[in-house]
Amino acid sequence: PPRVYRPTESGVNGMLSGMGETSIGKGENGVLIVAGGQATRLRYPYPKGMYPVTPIKKKSLFMLLSEKVRAVSLRYGADIPLLIMTNPESDILVKRYFEKNGFFGLGRKNVLFFQQELLPSVSPGGKLVIREDGLLASSPDGHGGCLKAAFKSGVAGKLKERGIRRLFYCHVDNPLVKVLDPLFLGYHLRSEADFSLKTVRKRPGEKVGTFLYADGKAAVVEYIELNEVLDEGGSSHAVEAFDSGSIGVHLIELSFMESLFFKSGGLPYHRQEKELQIEGGKRIGIWKFETFIFDAIPFAGKVSCMETSREEEFAPLKNFSGMDSPGDVRKAMSSLHRKWLTSAGIRVKKKTEVEISPLFALDESDFARKMKGRKLLLQGKSLYIE
Ligand code: UTP
Repeated sequence: PPRVYRPTESGVNGMLSGMGETSIGKGENGVLIVAGGQATRLRYPYPKGMYPVTPIKKKSLFMLLSEKVRAVSLRYGADIPLLIMTNPESDILVKRYFEKNGFFGLGRKNVLFFQQELLPSVSPGGKLVIREDGLLASSPDGHGGCLKAAFKSGVAGKLKERGIRRLFYCHVDNPLVKVLDPLFLGYHLRSEADFSLKTVRKRPGEKVGTFLYADGKAAVVEYIELNEVLDEGGSSHAVEAFDSGSIGVHLIELSFMESLFFKSGGLPYHRQEKELQIEGGKRIGIWKFETFIFDAIPFAGKVSCMETSREEEFAPLKNFSGMDSPGDVRKAMSSLHRKWLTSAGIRVKKKTEVEISPLFALDESDFARKMKGRKLLLQGKSLYIE
């Protein structure tokens, strides 16, 4: 079974966090947010990062994540470049949004945008498809596209010039992400890993990739494809332990990214079946192709994996309604922050919505420290702390 580090069972967390903090202070880490997806399930007409996600202030995902980067940067006194991957359609909107909002205080030179590529979609018969508007049907090449695009766009080169050695990678749609978590970074460094991932215990049938060992190599297998792997389990594949779900949080060494870009034939393509409206208003089934960032794992010399708690770090915004919908995400944020209050000795009613700005506190212990000796006046049904 894959080795998964569980901080709850370990006594060396302080030492690891210290290693991570030193590295952040040296200014050798960047942050990459992949935001090039089409967010079809959310049915939001703008790029997903612009979605007003927080329970009280309705901060957008971009604003919240940028504030997290800024808070880490202020806390450790280091400049942290923030990379945002867009797609050719969303690029201009995202750039304008950041400009209009003064780059959320990060400074223009610290925010670097680059575009992922598009891949043509085909009909199941393998034919190119013309969309309703007469253009060739195509779609972004998956979050794995960031490896190639970061180098082709020249952004990776700029990072190297700035002395950046690795990237903290996350998805735009998880507002609970602990940006550049020092413990995770410390564990990555001590493991001398090329690639690290965070996982949570999977819920039965949950649509996340599973961390496992297949053919003696660490890998993540996407939920759609896990059954195929299991079917082959009796033959060449040795597949064990399926309860570690990857949450799209990684640390990736730039040198490893570079070797992947220049040496390997690139990441494999995965086929997704979708529907598309074509000329004349007819809807047809199409195949689109995507690469996944975690397919880099089997190429890595060393991989490290750390388990975390879902309540603290994972609430993905995926669907318009039902599971992982905006309501779910707001609830998850509010209950986490309510827990921070409770453990700092402040009681709040269950119905009170709570939102704590990342610029006030980044985690539970940071919050407890800052609240010492302070009083809070609770009014009404919601509480925002900044
Ligand atoms: P998802 O695979 O959940 O896709 O992306 P999505 O675009 O958000 O939503 P659906 O499937 O269309 O409903 C997980 C993360 O990967 C990014 C997304 O922006 C999100 O942060 N991603 C996905 C890309 O950057 N590029 C892609 O081509 C696909």
